[in-house]
Amino acid sequence: MIIRNAELKDLESIAHLERKIEGENAATKEVLFERLKMFKDGFYVAEKNGKILGYIESCLWNKNNFRTFSEIKDFPKHHNPKGRILYIIFLGVDETQRRKGIGSRLVRTLQEYASEKRLEKVQLVAGEGFLTRFYKNLGFRVVKELPSFLPYSKGTLMEYRVTPIRY
Ligand SMILES: CC(C)(COP(=O)(O)OP(=O)(O)OC[C@H]1O[C@@H](n2cnc3c(N)ncnc32)[C@H](O)[C@@H]1OP(=O)(O)O)[C@@H](O)C(=O)NCCC(=O)NCCS
Repeated sequence: MIIRNAELKDLESIAHLERKIEGENAATKEVLFERLKMFKDGFYVAEKNGKILGYIESCLWNKNNFRTFSEIKDFPKHHNPKGRILYIIFLGVDETQRRKGIGSRLVRTLQEYASEKRLEKVQLVAGEGFLTRFYKNLGFRVVKELPSFLPYSKGTLMEYRVTPIRY
């Protein structure tokens, strides 16, 4: 399996995976296209034998004070190429391929990118269930709870402080 930057030719497979994982809340192919155009360097896929098994999308900004998803969901509007915070928009792995370390590898790839670029931190909002533990295992800490992040569920704002690579 390899992790590489997403490309236009992957969009159909990514959109298909997004629909499988997110159902009616899935981002459309057009929205995913806008996010890929917005920040290709922070959009990765996991591929094996030509098949996309997972993906991670992100943007750059300097935001610390958002409370709800609706405030931030138009990511291309908020993306700031000079931002010091790398925000993970979404991470997804095909259901049949989970618990093989793919999700962790995708997150680590972004952490390494943030380190190379000397960014300040990687940030995300974790949904309920095992996700806070998943991200804690990858070096993230809980910043605060966001009780109304989604209309139907809370979120947990988490961050990973970047250790810059020293040359
Ligand atoms: C979250 C997600 C990306 C994890 O992907 P993955 O490839 O299965 O993750 P990993 O194999 O790297 O898991 C690493 C560790 O996280 C924990 N973990 C992962 N899935 C878990 C689960 N369903 N229940 C409990 N712990 C879990 C385990 O500690 C696991 O290590 P282990 O398998 O050695 O026990 C995947 O479950 C997914 O796509 N979920 C739906 C979408 C989603 O919720 N995305 C996050 C939104 S930002």
